Amino acid sequence: MKTELLQFNDADLITAGKYIRDGKLVAFPTETVYGLGANAYDSEAVRSTYTAKGRPSDNPLIVHIWHKEQIYGVAREVNDDAVKIVNSLMPASLTVVLPKKDVISDAITAGLDTVAIRMPKSVQAREFLRYAEVPVTAPSANLSGRPSPTNWQRVYDDLNGKISAILCGDPCQVGIESTVLDLSGKDPLILRPGVVTADMIEAVLHKSVRVVTNPKEKVNSPGVRYKHYAPKVDMVLDVSGDMEKLSRYYDGLIASGRNPVLLVEKPQLFGSRNAVCIGQTDDEVARNLFENLRILEGKFDYIIASYTSTTPFAKSVLNRLVRSAGNNLI
Ligand code: TXA
Ligand code: MG
Repeated sequence: MKTELLQFNDADLITAGKYIRDGKLVAFPTETVYGLGANAYDSEAVRSTYTAKGRPSDNPLIVHIWHKEQIYGVAREVNDDAVKIVNSLMPASLTVVLPKKDVISDAITAGLDTVAIRMPKSVQAREFLRYAEVPVTAPSANLSGRPSPTNWQRVYDDLNGKISAILCGDPCQVGIESTVLDLSGKDPLILRPGVVTADMIEAVLHKSVRVVTNPKEKVNSPGVRYKHYAPKVDMVLDVSGDMEKLSRYYDGLIASGRNPVLLVEKPQLFGSRNAVCIGQTDDEVARNLFENLRILEGKFDYIIASYTSTTPFAKSVLNRLVRSAGNNLI
C-alpha cells in the first residue's frame, strides 16, 4: 500500500475525511501525540488499526470527537461529574471513560462496557475530525510498544506502507498522551496520568481523584499492562540527579565497550561525555521526550536518563520515562 502524505488544505482535508468514511486509516496530528484514525462506526476499519500497529486486541481505543454534543452519541450515560468535566475542561488533553452506547462495538472497547472519549485541544485535530464527520478511533500512530510519534515523520518511519494516508500537521506541543480519567465507576480514577493532573480535576469535581500508580492493580484499562514507549536500545532511569553516580555508571559502560549517552537536565556538567539535555522545564521534557528517544537510539546503544522534577505534571512525565526504561531504575 502506498501511504499518501496529505497537507492541511481544504482539498486534502476533504480527501482525509472521505478516506475515514471509506474505512481507510489516516494518521493525524493532535496536541499530545499523532493518532491513527479510523471510522468508529466501521468495525472492519477499527480492527485494521490493530493490525497496522501490531497492537494486542485486548487494549481498547479512544474515540475522538470535535464537538461536545457528540459525547451523547457514543456514551449511554453522561453523569454529573462528566458534565462538569466536559463544560469546564474540554477540549483538552484529557480522555474520559463512560458507559458505552451499543453503536460502539467490541472492536473499539475490547469487550468492555465503557468507551473512552476525547476532544483534542489541537485545532488541527478538531479540523480533521470535523471533515471526518464521524467519531474517529485513534491510538497513538506508532508501532505497538515503540515511543509515540510527536511529528508526522515518525509516523511515516513506523507505518509507511501500512496505512492509507498521513495528514502532515504541526509537531505535537504536549508530547505525552492524554490523561485517561475513568468516570464510569463510583469514584473518579486516573488510569493514565497526563498533562491534566489530579489537582486540576479535583478543582472541577470538588472531590478527591485517585491516580492508579501500581500497574499490577486490577483496573479496567488494559493499556497500563503492556510494555510501552521503549527505545530499541538499553535504557535506565535515575531520579536523583547525582552527577557522580551518573558519571560512574557512564564510565562503567564505556569500560565494557558500550556507547552510552546521558539524557540529563544539565549536560554541561558531564564534560567530554556524550550528554544531551532532557529539557529545561517539565513542558519541554514532555514535548521532546519521545523524539529524543528516537534520535538517541539511532546514535548510541545505551540511554542513561535522569529527571528530578517533582511537580504534579512531572509525575506524569516520569510515568512515561519509567516505562521507556522498562522499570530499570538506577
Ligand atoms: O493522547 C492520546 O490519548 C492519544 C491521541 C492520539 O489522542 N491516543 C492514545 O491512544 O494515546 P492509545 O491507544 O495509545 O491509548 C489509549 C489508552 C490505553 O491505555 C487504553 O487502555 C485506554 O486508553 N482505554 C481506552 N478505552 C478504554 C476504556 N473503555 N476503559 C479504560 N481504558 C481505556
Ligand atoms: Mg499508545
